[in-house]
Amino acid sequence: MRDGLTKLMMNWRGAKCTTMKQVYFEAHNNYQELIDWAMQKEISSLFVVGEELSRRMPELISALDSLPIQIFFFDEYESNPKYESVRKGIQVYRQHQCDGIVAVGGGSAIDVAKCVKLFQGMPGDGEDGSFLQQEIIPNDIPFLAVPTTAGTGSESTRFAVIYYNGVKQSISDESCIPLAVLFDSAALNGLPMYQRKATMMDAFCHALESFWSINSTDESRVYSAKALKMILANMQGYLDNTPDGNKNMLLAANLAGKAINIAQTTAGHAMCYKITSLCGCAHGHAAILCDRVLFPWMAEHVDECVDVRGKDFLREILDEIAEAMGCASVTDAVVMVRGIFERLELEVPQVSREQLEELVKSVNPVRLKNHPVKLGERSIREVYGDVVRIKDF
Ligand SMILES: [Fe+2]
Repeated sequence: MRDGLTKLMMNWRGAKCTTMKQVYFEAHNNYQELIDWAMQKEISSLFVVGEELSRRMPELISALDSLPIQIFFFDEYESNPKYESVRKGIQVYRQHQCDGIVAVGGGSAIDVAKCVKLFQGMPGDGEDGSFLQQEIIPNDIPFLAVPTTAGTGSESTRFAVIYYNGVKQSISDESCIPLAVLFDSAALNGLPMYQRKATMMDAFCHALESFWSINSTDESRVYSAKALKMILANMQGYLDNTPDGNKNMLLAANLAGKAINIAQTTAGHAMCYKITSLCGCAHGHAAILCDRVLFPWMAEHVDECVDVRGKDFLREILDEIAEAMGCASVTDAVVMVRGIFERLELEVPQVSREQLEELVKSVNPVRLKNHPVKLGERSIREVYGDVVRIKDF
């Protein structure tokens, strides 16, 4: 019987891929795949982005140490990485004339590595945000990602987010997508349960939202459907920290990442960011809080469809989502999503009336535009009313 990775590779070749050609490796104990990749790419000086790697992934460090090349580790970044951290990384990269990049981690490590790849060849030292103002010129620096959470799918998207003077900067360029990905199920072993659940829900929401996005294509919906199926089929194994469950959840998150790379996220992500900063919920937790309400809300408001492909098309999409989830109807799929949320025992945060208004004002209009059903301020307030609990005191 073929394992998940082989199946994915076969399906991947079968699917019409117009966006990128990523090569997958599956890590085994000695990380020989990583060694082979670096040797095949003839890298002489490797820039490695990742935190606490010697503690978290000692075998990977041993593999890197065994390479007859120079390795330069970079960990001077934070979650929600700052532009200044990327500048520091570029200094290291340039100083040692690196010619290959490996990112080991979740979204932050991969985003830093993406920005280093995109900015390192630009003139100047990046003072006063100058890297953000220059045109990105694609380069073919070998770039491999080792995702250590099964959630963001950042290793398959063209997006990177960094903060300059506290302001979010969304960088987007196809050439920052790592063309090689090493899946290592053991990398997920130390993941705390809450993070495990929340990152899985991030991948689940990527699959759902990309499915119904107004930007969805035949190709993106193939990825979304596969991701949904894989997440549901592997949820228990992943929660139980089995090697197969972990590996397949990494693959599912990667597929969901490919889907959002094409179709992007929608209202769930537009509405969830402020929940994280206001209530302290992890990103994926905040996203499923929103999508568990948005899904039935959309099904009830198909007549307010704004997707140019029309409401019948949207109805078909919602049916396809239900089918991918193994449900006979959209109603059943809605019940399933609620059931998953309850089973994961994720909290519903409480907010005051004032905080509810803060949430309503926070919604990201760019992502909201990808949503297939019109959401005005009144509807957003109504949806938030079910997403969180309102404190009446
Ligand atoms: Fe997300």
